[in-house]
Amino acid sequence: MARRKIIAGNWKMNMTPSEAKALVETLKDLVNNPEVDVVYCVPAIDIVPVVEAVKGTNVEVGAENMYIEEKGAYTGEIAPAMIVDAGAKYVIIGHSERREYFNETDEFLNKKVLKAFEHGLTPILCCGESLEQREAGVTLDWIRLQIKSDLQNVTAEQAASMVIAYEPIWAIGTGKTATTEQAQEVCKAIRETIAEIYDEATAESIRIQYGGSMNAKNCDELLAQPDIDGGLIGGASLKPDFGRIVNYQK
Ligand code: 13P
Repeated sequence: MARRKIIAGNWKMNMTPSEAKALVETLKDLVNNPEVDVVYCVPAIDIVPVVEAVKGTNVEVGAENMYIEEKGAYTGEIAPAMIVDAGAKYVIIGHSERREYFNETDEFLNKKVLKAFEHGLTPILCCGESLEQREAGVTLDWIRLQIKSDLQNVTAEQAASMVIAYEPIWAIGTGKTATTEQAQEVCKAIRETIAEIYDEATAESIRIQYGGSMNAKNCDELLAQPDIDGGLIGGASLKPDFGRIVNYQK
């Protein structure tokens, strides 16, 4: 069975609650595509108003991060149960900005992935190489290592239901997109890694996104690749362009 495309916006640290409501309103008619799963991953404080604002539409909501504990003395952190109760269904885990600025390691991210599943949240697990790694020719080895480490003790059934986002760090927010060949090559290698860890059926079922300056101009070509099942979109998710991506041309 063909995999359903999933187009997710990662708003990052943008949009106050009132701006968030206005953005949902602006995008409302533009993101209406019943053939595609559409997700807005938003700052924690925007989850409640955005869930309210997307009611009755095809859009689901995700968190951009979460903590690994159930509750307690972790000032400033957001528990998975809070995200679920607020009405979000997805959570981004291991974005390169969190790996870099907040020192999140694969060991820690593995705990987050397991915790997300425990609470019925669908993880959007991010991986990606730096420019130095690409130039050194170690991209595929690095990505395989990230995936294997982050998915320790995740069952095949869980893996089949999740989303992996391939985001080359050098393409994030730079306007520099990976070529379709580069993006397809890595997404294919991710699928092969899943087949290696689990089996073919799991690899066929998992959805793999490309992220890194995906926009209204390059989305059609990227989304036409056999192993690219969607996009994780930063900058362009805050603009009407996002609607064009959701309605990519086949
Ligand atoms: P840009 O689309 O702004 O490059 O960001 C990509 C990204 O990091 C999505 O998670």
